[in-house]
Amino acid sequence: MNTDQFLAKSQLKPIDKASFTWQTPSNIALVKYWGKSNPQIPKNASISFTLHNCHTITTVDFARKPHSELDLESEKVVTFNLFFEGKQKDDFKPKIAEFFKRIQTYCPYIFEYKMTINSENSFPHSSGIASSASGLSAIAMCLMSLEKELCAELSTEFIHKKASFLARLGSGSASRSIEGPLVVWGEHSEIEGSSDLFGVQFPYKVHSVFENYQDVILLVDTGEKQVSSTVGHKLMINHPFAENRFKQANENLGTMSKILQEGNIKDFISLVESEALTLHAMMMTSNPYFILMKPNTLEIINKIWEYRSAENSAICFTLDAGANVHVLFPEREKEKVNEFIKNELALYCDNNQYLCDQVGVGAKMLLNERY
Ligand code: DP6
Repeated sequence: MNTDQFLAKSQLKPIDKASFTWQTPSNIALVKYWGKSNPQIPKNASISFTLHNCHTITTVDFARKPHSELDLESEKVVTFNLFFEGKQKDDFKPKIAEFFKRIQTYCPYIFEYKMTINSENSFPHSSGIASSASGLSAIAMCLMSLEKELCAELSTEFIHKKASFLARLGSGSASRSIEGPLVVWGEHSEIEGSSDLFGVQFPYKVHSVFENYQDVILLVDTGEKQVSSTVGHKLMINHPFAENRFKQANENLGTMSKILQEGNIKDFISLVESEALTLHAMMMTSNPYFILMKPNTLEIINKIWEYRSAENSAICFTLDAGANVHVLFPEREKEKVNEFIKNELALYCDNNQYLCDQVGVGAKMLLNERY
């Protein structure tokens, strides 16, 4: 695998101070990534819808360290402060420090700046929505904005590719949060340009039924997850069904590619729901086993099935690594399904909370200042 293309070009002009703000979205996988090898290489290809409303806004302020500090080669350290929703957040620091460690070969300029990271999410902090995808993709975009200032010849295409490459090293699914509305991550023979190193936009024309596809996220459990994704991925090592699962996921991605192009909504529904339940089946058959779904997750799934057959609807569900349910449906059903959710599904949510979202286009720059 050619990672040399991501090594930073020699610097043209150091700058003293810069500040960049990016808004990057969360995403929801249709074919799931579950299982990886080092360094953050997925065991199978995955595809996700990029979301629009669920996002992180991150500002990184860069201040060049004084020469006296820079000259001390032996003291090469990454210096940063982290604020989340205005408050210093030292408990998030180890994950970000690990991220900087993984990317330092590709972004050696991070040693030269003091970085202050300010981050906030559009969704409630304890909503059970993973913020690592949007959070790490936002930092990756801010780093690429700095890199563009330092090495001005970078194209937008390269910036997106390298941002996804960097984000992946922080959290696998974050590689799918730079672009939209559909992103594939993981090498796959039927997806042109796909790679294990970064996410790529789904390269084929998508049927109109999937335009502005809706995703309502039902917040079933807003507490801390008992088992993190990172631990869950590790449990796929020596998992008795792992090899079959990876093979199945790759086959499913090929099938999903055709479905998305042809607009076969019935096949879409069965594949998406099967992927969600297979992901949780992997968790339930890990050693040690675990269950992230809650009783209300199952209540909601059954209600969705009843509604689908009674109303001849194209509604379906998917799950990520938690108890929350993503309700997916075409835009044409928006009004009716929103009523159904408000009247019948909200009752199963923590404090009746749910978030209305739809597919989006990816990262957006909000501010770019250099001095
Ligand atoms: C179930 O990307 O959170 O949401 O790479 O360890 O950070 P790390 O894991 P993460 O895993 C996401 C798993 C998933 C499925 C998916 O998004 O494809």
